[in-house]
Amino acid sequence: MSIIHSYAVRGIRAGVVSLSLVLLTACSSQEEETTTLRLPVSINEVMASLVNHAADPIWVAAWRNPQTDTQWRELEHLAKQLEIGGALLAIPGTGPMDEQWTSNADWRNFADQLSQAAARAVNAARARDVQLIARSGDEIVDVCEACHIAYKPDLPTMNIYGELSPRP
Ligand code: HEC
Repeated sequence: MSIIHSYAVRGIRAGVVSLSLVLLTACSSQEEETTTLRLPVSINEVMASLVNHAADPIWVAAWRNPQTDTQWRELEHLAKQLEIGGALLAIPGTGPMDEQWTSNADWRNFADQLSQAAARAVNAARARDVQLIARSGDEIVDVCEACHIAYKPDLPTMNIYGELSPRP
């Protein structure tokens, strides 16, 4: 009995040791991944495909108010996409300036502010609140402009779709 018992205990101990080894390896490889985290697209592409595209309808909604449930839900989706887009702006991608921009605390702060203003637009859309949509829309455009004044080249670069950014 006791021999069987001690075998069982040893077996469990060995199991615990190898499990923690597995966990250790998993943790360290995860750390490596976060330090080399990189988007497979440029920040300019994030800007054009996600940020700019999702922001426009939020501004429009402030004066042409959504009428149906479907329209409000669409707006909520777009505001969420803008929130995510803001978060992505803090991660470098394939653009020539991406590394330089994202290593700047000021830049990451603008990206974070954009995410937070968009999160308020998400709540406004959920609450079907036209005034809150307008207010978060104003906050959003302030962040776009502030970051563009600080970081965007003077001449419009045009994005991949040939669109111009909002001018201050
Ligand atoms: C964290 C900084 C930052 C924020 C926030 C930001 N942008 Fe940009 N945006 C840039 C930079 C830098 C460029 C130029 C990219 C390039 O040339 O590669 C750019 C480019 C653009 C472009 C491409 C056209 C052009 O003139 O180059 C559009 C459109 C655009 N932004 C729209 C927006 C909108 C709309 C918002 C807010 C909802 C916004 N951006 C928020 C930094 C920002």
